[in-house]
Amino acid sequence: MLLHVRKVLSADELRAARRLLAAAPWGDGRVTAGEQSARAKNNQQLPEACEASRQLQKLVLDGLARHQLFFSAALPKQISPPLFNRYGGEANSFGNHVDSAVRYLSDGSGRVRTDISCTVFLAEPDEYDGGELMVEDTYGQQRVKLPAGDMVLYPGHSVHRVEPVTRGQRVASFFWVHSMVRSDERRRLLFEMDQHLMSLRTRNGETDPAVIGLTATYHNLLRMWLEF
Ligand code: NI
Repeated sequence: MLLHVRKVLSADELRAARRLLAAAPWGDGRVTAGEQSARAKNNQQLPEACEASRQLQKLVLDGLARHQLFFSAALPKQISPPLFNRYGGEANSFGNHVDSAVRYLSDGSGRVRTDISCTVFLAEPDEYDGGELMVEDTYGQQRVKLPAGDMVLYPGHSVHRVEPVTRGQRVASFFWVHSMVRSDERRRLLFEMDQHLMSLRTRNGETDPAVIGLTATYHNLLRMWLEF
């Protein structure tokens, strides 16, 4: 499932993020790439240990924590610390690749199974040409270029790339989610059910017997499929 989540960052948070990003100490993006994807990767990345990274990570994680749609879709067990990258000039693209299944955290504190890949766009679409995230999914190739502050979620197993940026700079945050429900298919069913339930609840109220029954079914499916 590929999902567009709107306004993960507010306008104020986005301004703060962009100030931090403009003054940050950018480095070569290949530091976090595996052997195969290092050959395809040509971008810049923020060192994970710098102060700007720490403040930016907090902005993104706070934004996610407010977002009901994100939780409903991702059912996160663990979120890898957000990373930040920049495409433009000579370092302007990332060819077709698949993200590694396991992401070892740089501080040695553990690892995250990359069930879901996430990108939060931090530059407006009209600030750069190219730079689309191209994701192969069940329905074919998806072309993703979103407003600043918006996020896309897609299955970690998808082949994807970032098209060359031919003008301006594409800045984004990316990270992975280890989900409590590993199967993309099951997560999709739970997400769709949860969304329909919410609209049913709004229309019929919490005490409608069908709402109560379907809520029970939702939680019983969760209980059957959850892994901690
Ligand atoms: Ni990737």
